[in-house]
Amino acid sequence: MKTSVVIIGGGPSGLLLGQLLHLKGIDAIVLERKTREYVLTRIRAGILETGLVNLLREAGVADRLDREGFAHAGTIIAHDDSEFHISFRDLTGTDVMVYGQTEVTRDLYDARDAVGAQTFFNVEDVVINEADGDAPYVTFEVDGVSQRIDCDFIAGCDGFHGVSRQTIPLDVRKEYEKVYPFGWLGILSETPPVNEELIYSNSKRGFALCSMRNQNLSRYYIQCSLSDSPDDWTDDAFWKELRRRIPKHVADKLVTGPSIEKSIAPLRSFVTEPMRWGRLFLCGDAAHIVPPTGAKGLNTAASDVHYLYRALTQFYHDNDSIGIDTYSQRALARVWKAERFSWATTNMLHRYPDQSEFDLKMQRADIDFLRTNKAAQKAFAENYVGLPY
Ligand code: PHB
Repeated sequence: MKTSVVIIGGGPSGLLLGQLLHLKGIDAIVLERKTREYVLTRIRAGILETGLVNLLREAGVADRLDREGFAHAGTIIAHDDSEFHISFRDLTGTDVMVYGQTEVTRDLYDARDAVGAQTFFNVEDVVINEADGDAPYVTFEVDGVSQRIDCDFIAGCDGFHGVSRQTIPLDVRKEYEKVYPFGWLGILSETPPVNEELIYSNSKRGFALCSMRNQNLSRYYIQCSLSDSPDDWTDDAFWKELRRRIPKHVADKLVTGPSIEKSIAPLRSFVTEPMRWGRLFLCGDAAHIVPPTGAKGLNTAASDVHYLYRALTQFYHDNDSIGIDTYSQRALARVWKAERFSWATTNMLHRYPDQSEFDLKMQRADIDFLRTNKAAQKAFAENYVGLPY
């Protein structure tokens, strides 16, 4: 087989890249290790920056998002029993869109079906060959049959555990990592959201987040210990703990119900450099991970897709390799800023096991500065709605 771009990974970034390339007449084949059903049960954050919304519109996959998504003009930051509002709309002129990542992925698969683009599911033993030469190819097995695809480029959209990053030799790649000493226990419940905007809360008992997917689907998180398992937490225990971590008037109107999903996510900051090795380009979680505070995961993957899609279009349409040659540098410049925001917001809102009295005072000052300083709120809002591409 032969194609222009092999995209490894059938999650939202690989699919979005595939769709954008297709619209420019550039062929791409997507390889996915799991089934489509599996990919569509993964629950991730649900806040889309304007840059991503525009990219989805450009890809022609935003009809449902435009119909069903909710624009949020701001967010609430709570601290113990006090709280304040940050208006994205007033401070930046922009909103964010509430629409689940799972729904984005579903829309992208529907679009891929509609154009008849090729996707292999359940692929095993994916090997990227000769990415540093002029004739790369990817080999894999599917249904027990070995396959080979010759291509011009490979897009590694296969997440943190994928083969793409591992293909870059260790003497070329440098990794930066910070692991946080807690996790997030999240539940999804078919209940109305407690508030029309998200509430991020730093309480004495630890962080909590009130989020949502739609008018009858809520997403809540509480900071938990890394040694906890979701089975340790009954729904009742979760609701009780959440109530204790959010302002009382909010807790009083919380509507609870059975959880339809419950899971624990560890928190990590991670970046690998460079994001390009020869004809292999890394996108999204394959190259970087953010802690979920601020919902930057999918949004940083989207900015990578933006840079790569423009670079490949320039290459195929204008015979110009400048975008390809500067991809890693441009993607990383934005990635590091999203890393900084996610790290700073995580630090501001969580309780750390070894936090000293001094650390607590610093954290309180951090929140107080944000509460009272317009410039600090503007900087927060600019980061939250997404820095320019
Ligand atoms: C979510 O709705 O899952 C969500 C929202 C905002 C975050 C993280 C997760 O910062």
